[in-house]
Amino acid sequence: MTLASPRQRDQPAEWSGTDAPGEADRVAADFVSRLADRTTAANATAANTTVTNATAANAAAAHTTVTRNPTAARTTHVGPITDRSTAEHPSSVRSAADHTQADRMQAQRVQADHATAERFRCPTTFGAGGSEPYAQALQGADNVLYLHGHHPDADPGTPAQVSTMQAGRWSADADAIDRSLLAGVGGPVLDIGCGPGRMIQAAIDEGLDALGVDVSPTAVRIALAAGLAVLEGSVFDTIPQEGSWATLLLVDGNIGIGGDPDALLDRCAALLSADGILVVEAHRDPEHDLVYVGTLHDSAGNASDAFPWAEIGVSALRRRAAKVGLVPVAEWTTGGRSFVRLARA
Ligand SMILES: C[S@@+](CC[C@H](N)C(=O)[O-])C[C@H]1O[C@@H](n2cnc3c(N)ncnc32)[C@H](O)[C@@H]1O
Repeated sequence: MTLASPRQRDQPAEWSGTDAPGEADRVAADFVSRLADRTTAANATAANTTVTNATAANAAAAHTTVTRNPTAARTTHVGPITDRSTAEHPSSVRSAADHTQADRMQAQRVQADHATAERFRCPTTFGAGGSEPYAQALQGADNVLYLHGHHPDADPGTPAQVSTMQAGRWSADADAIDRSLLAGVGGPVLDIGCGPGRMIQAAIDEGLDALGVDVSPTAVRIALAAGLAVLEGSVFDTIPQEGSWATLLLVDGNIGIGGDPDALLDRCAALLSADGILVVEAHRDPEHDLVYVGTLHDSAGNASDAFPWAEIGVSALRRRAAKVGLVPVAEWTTGGRSFVRLARA
């Protein structure tokens, strides 16, 4: 059973007047609610008992999360600090000294989390700002983009390193290699930086429940118009069902999101279920490990603001993932693209 209607092919070229964040929140809330209903039914069948309270509470919490004001979420919301403090020690078994120490540690953790959240509430993300080449490419026919990498260690005056990106593939159907990423994985699937949603649709085609999250209002509107469930916001904002996602996708360079792969991997570890799988598309060169500032350009002269980005190969990814307790369970290269599946150690 699928949660979203089949993707529609004929998109309007321009979008205006749609309350995409509100619509995205409504669609995502609906997605989570259906997921919770399904989980409840499955649990009840499996245990031959009624398990409604916790699931209903989860669903209610999830509803609260996704019906937030997205603008407020971006300015006041601190995703990673959720509930970690209360999970540490039952207060009944803590001495006064433990309390002081634990409270100090908690305060430090909250401070660190705030710092992380501030950092990732970056004013600019992939291709945004300036004359919005990413949004334009998603809506136009000329959708070849050029990613200019401005490397921090380069001598002043060094020309940017330029790589060409075919933005048309983000709006097209998932190809055979994209679809192969979903072979044997479970749902629900969260596609991080989903763009217009080709991988969400591919997951649905596999019979999996799938939600996308993306900061680009244009990408989100296109995905919503195609009947896909998408959250408009950052992966570093609060996401419904944190710690319960069976599969996370970071496809087509999205390990670069935020320009801090360690923080992104840590965030993914928090989102994954205990036996969940994180699928990452890595850089072709296994040793490649580059964090830099990018700008996106098109051939019409449109340029984005600068944004933090990263390119990480398989070996570097393995090293970085180990730091957050994730290990590779599969690595492969096909069609010139490299992939890794990570799970908890
Ligand atoms: C290279 S495109 C990849 C699109 C998609 N994964 C695909 O393969 O079709 C990168 C996407 O990541 C999104 N993105 C960038 N930063 C993000 C963040 N912090 N949270 C969620 N999405 C983000 C961008 O808006 C953009 O849609």
